[in-house]
Amino acid sequence: MQTTGPQPAGAKKEYYVSTPIYYVNDAPHLGHAYTTVAGDVLSRWHRQRGEKVWFLTGTDEHGQKIMRTADANGVSPQEWCDKLVEEAWKPLWEHLEIANDDFIRTTEKRHTDRVQEFVQDLYDKGEIYKGGYEGPYCVGCEEYKLPGELLDGEGDFAGQKLCPVHKKPVEILKEENYFFKLSEYGDKLLARYEANPDFIQPESARNEVVNFVRQGLQDLSISRSTFDWGVPVPWDEKHVIYVWVDALLNYATAVGYNENPAKFESTFPANVHLVGKDILRFHAIIWPAMLMAQGLPLPGKVAANGWLMVGGEKMSKSNLTGIKPQDLTSHFGVDAYRWYFLRAIAFGQDGSFSWEDFSARYTSELANDYGNLASRVAAMVGKYFGGELPASAADGEAEQAIHGGLAKAVAEADRKIGEDLDFQGGILAIFDFVKQVNGYITEQEPWKVAKDTSDEGKARLATILYTAAESLRAVAVLLNPIMPDTSQKLWDSLGAEASLGTLADQRVQDAGTWGRLPAGMTVTKGAVLFPRLEEKPTA
Ligand code: MSP
Repeated sequence: MQTTGPQPAGAKKEYYVSTPIYYVNDAPHLGHAYTTVAGDVLSRWHRQRGEKVWFLTGTDEHGQKIMRTADANGVSPQEWCDKLVEEAWKPLWEHLEIANDDFIRTTEKRHTDRVQEFVQDLYDKGEIYKGGYEGPYCVGCEEYKLPGELLDGEGDFAGQKLCPVHKKPVEILKEENYFFKLSEYGDKLLARYEANPDFIQPESARNEVVNFVRQGLQDLSISRSTFDWGVPVPWDEKHVIYVWVDALLNYATAVGYNENPAKFESTFPANVHLVGKDILRFHAIIWPAMLMAQGLPLPGKVAANGWLMVGGEKMSKSNLTGIKPQDLTSHFGVDAYRWYFLRAIAFGQDGSFSWEDFSARYTSELANDYGNLASRVAAMVGKYFGGELPASAADGEAEQAIHGGLAKAVAEADRKIGEDLDFQGGILAIFDFVKQVNGYITEQEPWKVAKDTSDEGKARLATILYTAAESLRAVAVLLNPIMPDTSQKLWDSLGAEASLGTLADQRVQDAGTWGRLPAGMTVTKGAVLFPRLEEKPTA
């Protein structure tokens, strides 16, 4: 059984990133979009490195929560899911420029057939047995809770026990179910966490999981028999498979488990499962144990993002701010939206959204620092050199500092975004470089140098503007995974495609190599990267 360690040489070729598959009981909100944008940026970053990437997202469509929502809306669960997926989920991801390679729905046959095979296989291996269970269940989480985790209700809920995540009363369920022998995997899981300190990220999340496992794991109920909206247990069709077992398997079924061995070999397991911290235990305990039971390789990393909060609580369907992702994109634009949450919140920590904070950062960091730099440089190349990028004459100390600053920004951003999933740190590294270039222009005062019409003056002006334009060439590449439309506008304005090819073809590894943009390119003023914001709309 291979549970740890590297893959056999030549087997796995793709860098595989997943988001959670989302419940379709309602339309996506800012919280869902947060994880999905992070996944998109991570996978675009690796594509920009020239790696083969597989980015998966999708929807979790079974279980009691979806069934009840559909009932309440007077339609069948399948009709409900179809409508939400087509009218709400897929359009939002398209709008946010999410470049997923596949979209898996757990009601698809390619998934349900494979889920049955997987579970049957575990049953045949003796990993599953029949037993009874009675305990508090939260339908919001679709999870049995431990009595010790519950909160005491107050006010309307006085005298009742509440789910710590949803702050709603739990239901006591008593059922005869099938159980997976999860309790037998505690030591193996602990050994895995020990041997792979980066398996769970961030450290606080890792500690929480390790402590939880150390307390001893209970076997996991993996079937339900009181409702039927799920994948039937193949050997006992009175039961449906527990929605979490069904859902976790999407990471295998979507990449060809038991169906397309070549695809499965080259893609599975995921390098990174991105999850919210609310669903960390499912991914860091149950999922690896299911894989170990099958002798399948384990994912490289489970990375938990913190919560977007509203009034001190996790943003959720019931306490939404009333602000939809589309309300923000129509005001700030899609690129700024993709940038903002990763820039403002340290990945892994909780964070609150504020319209004022977004406006302030948009204006100072995007419009003033970055947008103005791009437009000033293009305008000066236009004014002083007729739009033809001049060659750099002689690089002095100031230019060397820019070269060094760029090399540092590239190395830091690549490590932080590509490896550490420290999106905020990576973005800051890039924007520190933007600030450095702004400072360089302020100090060099090209508008004053332009008044010196001697050969020496012209050469100096050429060097300054080349240095600034070449810096922007690198910034366009580095920001492409985060703000693809803006990077494209900048790329067009620099006239870079004619000599360097498409933006997608630029490698992060080469971004810091100085002098890639050849002199003689046609630089045009181009579109404003970050237009001045309109007044904040009133609700
Ligand atoms: N269907 C399960 C996941 C199954 S994965 C095999 C589920 N779905 S969910 O619709 O509730 O979405 C959960 C995910 O959405 C969270 O784990 C997180 O990634 C994201 N978020 C939902 N609300 C969020 C916030 N308020 N803040 C940050 N992320 C949030 O659980």
